[in-house]
Amino acid sequence: MKKLTGKTAIITGGNSGIGFATAQEFVAQGAKVIITGRNQKSIDEAVAQLGENAHGIVSDAGDMAQVNQIQAQVKAITPNIDIIFINAGLGKFNSVDGMTEDMFDEIMNVNFKGAYFTLQQLLPLVNNGGSIIFNTSINAHIGMAGASVYAASKAALLSLIKNLSAELLPRRIRVNAISPGPVVTPLHTSEKLGISDDQLQQMGNGILSQIPIGRFGNAEEIAKIALFFASDDSTFVLGAELVADGGMYTL
Ligand SMILES: NC(=O)c1ccc[n+]([C@@H]2O[C@H](COP(=O)([O-])OP(=O)(O)OC[C@H]3O[C@@H](n4cnc5c(N)ncnc54)[C@H](OP(=O)(O)O)[C@@H]3O)[C@@H](O)[C@H]2O)c1
Repeated sequence: MKKLTGKTAIITGGNSGIGFATAQEFVAQGAKVIITGRNQKSIDEAVAQLGENAHGIVSDAGDMAQVNQIQAQVKAITPNIDIIFINAGLGKFNSVDGMTEDMFDEIMNVNFKGAYFTLQQLLPLVNNGGSIIFNTSINAHIGMAGASVYAASKAALLSLIKNLSAELLPRRIRVNAISPGPVVTPLHTSEKLGISDDQLQQMGNGILSQIPIGRFGNAEEIAKIALFFASDDSTFVLGAELVADGGMYTL
């Protein structure tokens, strides 16, 4: 039996990687999905692949003027939603010596501020009993050179799951988080990470050697966890984090 029949979900950063795999999983489970991203063309391509139960919205999580439009954009498609997967995020890395204010602001604006205010915009549309899921990272738990600001942006998201679950109790809206370890997605490109190809190769080998299970995860494995939090399989779970990392942090 399908687990999300009759539900509507919004997935930020749903045109690529973990977000796209989750959109595919949710559609397969009977949901209607709305995906967001920055680029109309990649959103249109993703929506075409997802089929008739998918819609797309351009919304840059780093641009408050766009974030403030998202409630109206969603309302133009549907009056209510049941599931929000706050997944859009970027991974940029630099040492504390090399960090610039611009890079700091870019990471925090997209990964935390944009996530927070996107949620604020969307909350009035969420049906009672709805589910909010944040995509954080094991970087919120481990020490990795160059990752301090990225890790802080994800740790900030983690701090929301308990506080917002408490705040949203009257509406029975549950707020939980997934913290993935390394997952094979388009995020792992030199361009997206802001590093050279050599650094990417080195970083990939270094990370792989730290994953006890001996491989990166795949986006579908994270999508299954999002499905758990989104569905009625987790109705007694709130303020919780599920770390999915091949043992990198958990062992
Ligand atoms: N892959 C991993 O190893 C890993 C591990 C832990 C956590 N995560 C987290 O998982 C989430 C998804 O990443 P992914 O690995 O699936 O990478 P991805 O394939 O690069 O997907 C990231 C998504 O976020 C979107 N995005 C980025 N900046 C945005 C912005 N300013 N406004 C709106 N959308 C934006 C991207 O859109 P564009 O296509 O326009 O760039 C894309 O749809 C991120 O939050 C990341 O931090 C990933």
